[in-house]
Amino acid sequence: MSGTWGNKIELSIFGESHGKAIGIVINGIKPGFEIDMDKIEKEMERRAPGRNKMSTQRKEGDKPKILSGIFEGKTTGAPISMIIENSDTRSKDYSKLKDLMRPGHADYAGNRRYGGFNDYRGGGHFSGRITAPLVFAGALAKQLLEEKGIKIGAHISSVGKVKDDSFNRINISESLLEHLLKKELPLIKDEKIEEVKKEIEKVRLKGNSIGGTIECAIIGVKAGIGSPFFDSLESKIASLAFSVPAVKGIEFGLGFEISEMTGAEANDEYYVENGEIKAYSNNNGGITGGISNGMPITYKVAIKPTPSISIEQRTVNISTMENEKLVIEGRHDPCIVQRAVVVIEAIAAIAILEAIES
Ligand SMILES: Cc1cc2nc3c(=O)[nH]c(=O)nc-3n(C[C@H](O)[C@H](O)[C@H](O)COP(=O)(O)O)c2cc1C
Repeated sequence: MSGTWGNKIELSIFGESHGKAIGIVINGIKPGFEIDMDKIEKEMERRAPGRNKMSTQRKEGDKPKILSGIFEGKTTGAPISMIIENSDTRSKDYSKLKDLMRPGHADYAGNRRYGGFNDYRGGGHFSGRITAPLVFAGALAKQLLEEKGIKIGAHISSVGKVKDDSFNRINISESLLEHLLKKELPLIKDEKIEEVKKEIEKVRLKGNSIGGTIECAIIGVKAGIGSPFFDSLESKIASLAFSVPAVKGIEFGLGFEISEMTGAEANDEYYVENGEIKAYSNNNGGITGGISNGMPITYKVAIKPTPSISIEQRTVNISTMENEKLVIEGRHDPCIVQRAVVVIEAIAAIAILEAIES
């Protein structure tokens, strides 16, 4: 099992949903950086469960406990380790899931991969809960990037068929990103907020779930960050995005739509303004040749509907090798999208910091 990512900024995550604690070890953070813990905790709260009807009713404060690497409020340069203790676990909800494999979840694949020794309670190490340590690392990375004038923000770009506007890829202001941060449901178009809430409530009442997309923007990255081929900025971001449970797709800039264009339509033509090089359009999402080109970096991820639903489904019992019906109990998110927004921002921050340090 690889719980480790990165070269210059190395992350190692650990823990299970219903174990004692979850956490992270972060290597490569420079010494002497003054950390704003309040800001980190606010970021963790954005992901924490139990805040409203749109998320699981499991109530966890997600309070980070720093074990090492920070002394008198500043980084020491030694590995930073942090844990979050699990408190609100109800493992009995999961007893039948030892044998009955949830369709769409990692139960069956994980059981095969680890010979049945994996902790299945609450999804174990496959749980969305393990994204809390990622948010911690991302919140730290965001603070280090802000020092360099780099800002990151994201919004819900769709839930089911309800769509928000997209970012204006050539001009994304810091104030828009700040504004989105303050919203319970971060959508650019306020009129869509109620529609999204209704969409989630509709499926929740039926014991069903729904997916959507999140669009993320990284502004203030100068041209020239990243590398071609294997270390491209796209691959760094994508490798972290696909480490987030429930992410099933990613596209940069115009993404799949660019394939329907001609070169003349797709190319982002350059111009000079006050000695600065800019582009008239940003269909490539701020990255060309795997390297930042100075335009805002934008990408969208697709999040699938929460696999654990309480509607009856067909599955198998891996002990008896019989076909069975499954009705999932327990507390689950009817929609993952709104809780994943801060996770998608976090992985952007980690990837950019790693690219800058490389
Ligand atoms: C923030 C977050 C919350 C999640 N909450 C749930 C949940 O309540 N119930 C569930 O079945 N899956 C939940 N998931 C998704 C599963 O962890 C994920 O679908 C599963 O591990 C299978 O991985 P895959 O979807 O990447 O293939 C959540 C994911 C994230 C990122």
